[in-house]
Amino acid sequence: MVTPTSDGRSSLVSSTAQSEELYRTHRLNLQAERLATRRRILRWVIRIGAGAFGLALLVPALALRSLTQAVDRVTAGDLLVYAIGDRAGLPIDIAALAPGTAVQAFPEGKSENEQNLIELVRLGDDPQGGLVAYSAICTHLGCTVLEALSPDGNIVCPCHASIFDPRADAQVLTGPAARPLPALPVDIADGRVLAAGGFDAPVGPA
Ligand code: FES
Repeated sequence: MVTPTSDGRSSLVSSTAQSEELYRTHRLNLQAERLATRRRILRWVIRIGAGAFGLALLVPALALRSLTQAVDRVTAGDLLVYAIGDRAGLPIDIAALAPGTAVQAFPEGKSENEQNLIELVRLGDDPQGGLVAYSAICTHLGCTVLEALSPDGNIVCPCHASIFDPRADAQVLTGPAARPLPALPVDIADGRVLAAGGFDAPVGPA
């Protein structure tokens, strides 16, 4: 507001001073508003960043979980259970496994890892022996070998007809597989079959 004075010049100076004051106030308000907006944006960025950080932690955690499942390998002390059929999940009954026959097994609680599939072969009729175990995953391209032995007592892969000799450390009798099936040491305790270690070589194609 312009204050009337007897001096027209003084009145003009006063009016200019008021305008400058109004302009300064307006600028201060504008700056305060911009600052508030920046703070809002910053808070939003921090929230988004925290979410992304959480996600970044979660993804490796999930990957690690999958990896842990994938590498849950057979190890010493694992109880062997039937892999397929009516008795899937039940302990292998050694008495029910006739000499010259085979059955496929998993270590109990580790069937999600297909690399754990085992071909358990009973070679002789000794109740405490004559039992050998190999990986049931073919070393050629990774197919599952047949559970039943061939008429001459060998392990057969149905994919490309590789044949392995269970009496001779699963050596290759006929290719295209180039290396034996990995062996698994086993023990018998109270009529149950337990793994006595892990496979002695990498499972599947290598
Ligand atoms: Fe077994 Fe080819 S995958 S013979």
